Amino acid sequence: MRQSGSPKEHSFSPRRPSFDLESALAHDWHGGSAFRTAWFNALSMMSPYGERFFIDSVNEFRDRIEDPQLKSEVQAFLMQETNHLHQHKKVNELLCSVRGYDMRAIEEPILSRAEWTKKNVPAIRRLAGTAANEHLTAVLVADMLRHNDSFIGADPGMADLWYWHGIEEIEHKSVAFDVYQAAEGSLKDRRLVQIFGTVFFLSGTFRILRLMLKHDGKLWSLREWLSGFKFLFVKPGVLRRACIPYFRFLQKDFHPWHDDDRYLIEEWEAKRQSS
Ligand SMILES: [Fe+2]
Ligand SMILES: [Fe+2]
Repeated sequence: MRQSGSPKEHSFSPRRPSFDLESALAHDWHGGSAFRTAWFNALSMMSPYGERFFIDSVNEFRDRIEDPQLKSEVQAFLMQETNHLHQHKKVNELLCSVRGYDMRAIEEPILSRAEWTKKNVPAIRRLAGTAANEHLTAVLVADMLRHNDSFIGADPGMADLWYWHGIEEIEHKSVAFDVYQAAEGSLKDRRLVQIFGTVFFLSGTFRILRLMLKHDGKLWSLREWLSGFKFLFVKPGVLRRACIPYFRFLQKDFHPWHDDDRYLIEEWEAKRQSS
């Protein structure tokens, strides 16, 4: 029985790029904007904890998978997310050391929330949360790659880090969802958990962003917050543009590959080979 909902000929594996980001991380690398820099730095800070959670959630249901395609997709998913986890951990440690951010203050609430979730939330709901967050991630990165306007004025190395991560998120975007379907997760849980998952994700990101701006003495800068609001909701409006595709996850017959955006992977690969 086919359990993978990916296109039949779709296959992927992890890449192992390396990045030299020390000098970029020491500054407001996103065009000198404290808000935009802190936004992406906060996302990077969230990344390893999210990825640990996703890896563990999918791992718990591996034995439900019989379809060879989904089996190999799960394997590649775990390897890709493990790479993302290590790469972002390295970036985050470097960032905290060059900018003086307090890693413990950043990570403690995330770790205790993760521990609470592990103890109190059933495995199937954690898997639903993983599928939902993987969808949110896929929507955000597809928007980033499609419009190519998220990193105007930014350090090219930092942009490359996010493009690499984004491409792999598109490649494995249906894995957690298909495992959730194979584990006979319910539509009701999937819908409910999407809302909670997104609230946790956004509140966590904004908490870190605030800590960073406070440390940099920019927390009360109206100029920074207005330009940040513009970036997220007006122009380019990276969160605003993601709204409609994000809510498709609530549809009964939703599947991540209903939006076949593999052309973004091909375009990125072609660009990478020609540079
Ligand atoms: Fe990832
Ligand atoms: Fe992912």
